[in-house]
Amino acid sequence: MRATAIAHPNIAFIKYWGNRDPRLRLPLTGSISMNLAALETRTTVEFDADRNADAFILNGRPASGECLTRVSRFLDRVREKAERQLYAQVESVNSYPSGAGIASSAAGFAALALAASRALGLEWDEAQLSRLARLGSGSACRSIPSGFVEWLPGSRDLDSYAVQLAPADHWDLIDLVALVNPEHKAVGSSAGHNLAETSPLNPLRVAGVPARLELCRQAILQRDFDLLARVTEEDYQWMHAVMRTSSPPLLYWTADTEVVIWHVQSWRQQGHALCVTVDAGPNPHVIALAEEREWALTALRALPGVMDVLVSPVGNGAQLVQAN
Ligand code: PMV
Repeated sequence: MRATAIAHPNIAFIKYWGNRDPRLRLPLTGSISMNLAALETRTTVEFDADRNADAFILNGRPASGECLTRVSRFLDRVREKAERQLYAQVESVNSYPSGAGIASSAAGFAALALAASRALGLEWDEAQLSRLARLGSGSACRSIPSGFVEWLPGSRDLDSYAVQLAPADHWDLIDLVALVNPEHKAVGSSAGHNLAETSPLNPLRVAGVPARLELCRQAILQRDFDLLARVTEEDYQWMHAVMRTSSPPLLYWTADTEVVIWHVQSWRQQGHALCVTVDAGPNPHVIALAEEREWALTALRALPGVMDVLVSPVGNGAQLVQAN
């Protein structure tokens, strides 16, 4: 009763921020992202009749407290569906820094959903796995399908899941993550989502999302980089405007984040196919056409405050590595 799965984090062009139902993680709006092939979480789940509690080992270290509880609660849902009462050991390794706006929880819960369900013998389809992953971390539902993905917000558990908009090889984009601060973030996104509705700007952001989703779908399907850049940059600014005007305010950026944003905008004005987006952390993600890779790497590495740059092409969804 053991299975191993891999999944990749995703970066959203149109962001998920705020829940209609925090327990079921039903989002206020839809969102669109792409998976990141070069970054990976590998998770092995082993259920065992001799265990009397769940254990979670993250990057080689036993987890405790809230981190373990979150994984254990998630396993409860899988146990309930499989009608089995067995505890498990979960071992998870990330190939990139956790909790720094690189959505480690998205890849983590996507890999856990696939490995845990298969270890208990459940052969679920993509929509079922996406719904399950969503219960662990909202954006994890987008790491189940491959390539460019849209989360259909739905209105209840059954109809809130992610679907593929286009496969990974549809468009040769890359994400360059400029690491300005690889530390673990102070306020996690689960707590952050609960603050969204305290911002007077939240209704305005939410009202604008359907139009931005439509433009983003169009940009991806037609491989229109200018349109993608415009709508992506508009959208993350709205999310951070809501964060900054929440009560208490959420400030994820540092001065180094601003430096990267400022330069990316000026490089685009010079004709480079680059744009920027920022999640719930300080590290900007620079989205670019793959042909800009070398130029962008050199330019980003030369900026003050940029400690390293992770580069990734568009990735597949969650995949089973082994089950027995
Ligand atoms: O899935 P969560 O609860 O970690 O929320 C992720 C929220 C953002 O990364 C900021 C935006 C997104 O859509 O990925």
